[in-house]
Amino acid sequence: MTRIFSGIKPTGHLTLGNYLGALRQWVAADQRPDEALFCVVDLHALTVEHDPARVRRLSRQVATLFLASGLDPDKCTLFMQSHVDEHTRLSYLLECTATDGEMRRMIQYKEKSARAQASGEGVRLSLLTYPVLMAADILAYGTEEVPVGEDQRQHVELARDLAVRFNQRYGQTFTVPKATLPDVAARVMDLQEPTSKMGKSGGPGPGVVFMLDEPGVIRKKVMRAVTDSGDGGVVYDREARPGVANLLDVLAACTGGDPAALAEGYSGYGALKRDVADAVVELLRPVQERHAELAAEPAAVEKVLRVGAGRARDLARPIVDRAYRAIGLLEP
Ligand code: TYM
Repeated sequence: MTRIFSGIKPTGHLTLGNYLGALRQWVAADQRPDEALFCVVDLHALTVEHDPARVRRLSRQVATLFLASGLDPDKCTLFMQSHVDEHTRLSYLLECTATDGEMRRMIQYKEKSARAQASGEGVRLSLLTYPVLMAADILAYGTEEVPVGEDQRQHVELARDLAVRFNQRYGQTFTVPKATLPDVAARVMDLQEPTSKMGKSGGPGPGVVFMLDEPGVIRKKVMRAVTDSGDGGVVYDREARPGVANLLDVLAACTGGDPAALAEGYSGYGALKRDVADAVVELLRPVQERHAELAAEPAAVEKVLRVGAGRARDLARPIVDRAYRAIGLLEP
């Protein structure tokens, strides 16, 4: 039995990338309540400029989408990060384990701090320390596997490094986790800018398919996707033909095929785009329907989160207490 932990931060509407890279993998993992924990990591949403009302709204929406995607609260633990104090309790100990240089090397920190600076905002200190809080999210539960998309691999490696270092210095305390990535669509790219990741935080980009986009909107975005120049037909080449490769990846992820093999069935981009649009619409349709039902019962979603937080606390508390003792702090 494998302990699994993963999370999504409520900084924007969830995208097809979040679904294919993370949520769908989570649903596929065989779960028992004490084995798989999935978290709306709301504290992470405060690391960049934020509007409190929007964070509240998005936190509820992300939790509702967890359920709508098929995560079963009887089989896994669903909760809100800020409802379980152990995350921030452990984060401080890991700040005392990580180094400043290590934090500044994180790719996402470099990108996001540059963006914040360019727009004249200050860079929040929490943006720098964010990967340590993420390590705490993971290590607090004795996590073995962290199902994520490609962009989170570096952060999970940091969690591994911190676990190993802490264990070497202070005695065996943490399980050393590893990232697990989906076979295809571990990095869904923006349909208009196929060399950049499809991201939820960049605003209502025309190249981003949101999980709750209406079918007509999804079709329009896919049909307008940037494809590559050159008349080499439909071939799967992520370096030379990133736009087409991205569409093939998405199609493969939706239909279960192999992207290179799928390419052979197409002579032009139009037919490929139509099939991608159909596949994405059909993939998201049941999720959207379930979301509409669940959004009408917010009290039921809140109850799931309350029960989940209780379970999560019970699992994390002894591990975090052990870390407090190991690092040299007296018991209260
Ligand atoms: P976040 O909220 O940016 O993304 C949530 C999950 O979705 C995946 N993902 C993608 N996968 C494929 N293609 C894309 N275009 C794409 N965009 C996003 C991400 O890889 C991720 O798995 N720091 C994390 C949240 C976090 C976390 C954790 C994750 C906080 N604590 C502990 C795992 C364990 C983040 O910002 O993810």
